[in-house]
Amino acid sequence: MQNTNIFNELRKASPLISVGMLTADLLSLGSELKLMEQAGVKLLHIDVMDGCFCPMMTVGPPLIKAMKTPLLKDVHLMIDEPLDKVESYLAAGADMITVHAESGMHIHQTLQSLGKMANANHSDRGVLRGLALNPGTPIEVIEPVIDELEMVFLLAVNPGFAGQKFIPSTEQRIIKLKKLIREAGKDVLIGVDGGIKKDNIADVVAMGPDIIVTGSAVFDGKTPLENAKYMIETVDNAAKTCNKEDS
Ligand code: DX5
Ligand code: ZN
Repeated sequence: MQNTNIFNELRKASPLISVGMLTADLLSLGSELKLMEQAGVKLLHIDVMDGCFCPMMTVGPPLIKAMKTPLLKDVHLMIDEPLDKVESYLAAGADMITVHAESGMHIHQTLQSLGKMANANHSDRGVLRGLALNPGTPIEVIEPVIDELEMVFLLAVNPGFAGQKFIPSTEQRIIKLKKLIREAGKDVLIGVDGGIKKDNIADVVAMGPDIIVTGSAVFDGKTPLENAKYMIETVDNAAKTCNKEDS
């Protein structure tokens, strides 16, 4: 299922932001989502935490289902043993599902079964499968599962909380991941998640990821619309600069 429609859409739009909803105003979620649409955001990053894989508990399938939006739902599962749980997130409308390499005994099987499942929003859109790696997990863990995923998310913070600081070794990890993907002859999207703010997003774009998760810098409790626009514009400009330098 490498070439799902979502994969092609994202490959074309890369690099782009996925806005983390963790610090959005959940009691005004409808209007927060509208602001993201207005800003031109394409992906909503929804952090699911179960209080076991990481200490906090956040949202589950009912809230994801309640989010009425044309934006793609990029669901990041920070939950233990996701194998039997992924189906309910798809049923709730997830377009992209990321599980953690550290979260279960059956990661290959989880990705494999996700590859056979349909997108509940549009059956022809496909499901984009992601694998997330904590900052302390070796990049090589993707080798045995590389045929069963379309995206790898590198966490640039330890999972669990918004507003942390970007871990600098992430840059070297992106380089290593790109090399591994190239040598495997695959086309896999690379995401970076955590600690990406206004003052470092251009530097992160220069590291070459496709999807850049930014949460608390957008939903800062003040000006989410302006913040999202700023992030999109900065990513577009930084990408142009990188392309010029490459050619
Ligand atoms: C960390 C989450 C991230 C994070 C993003 O556990 O996966 O998505 O909350 O938020 P910021 O941008 O505030 O680091
Ligand atoms: Zn996340």
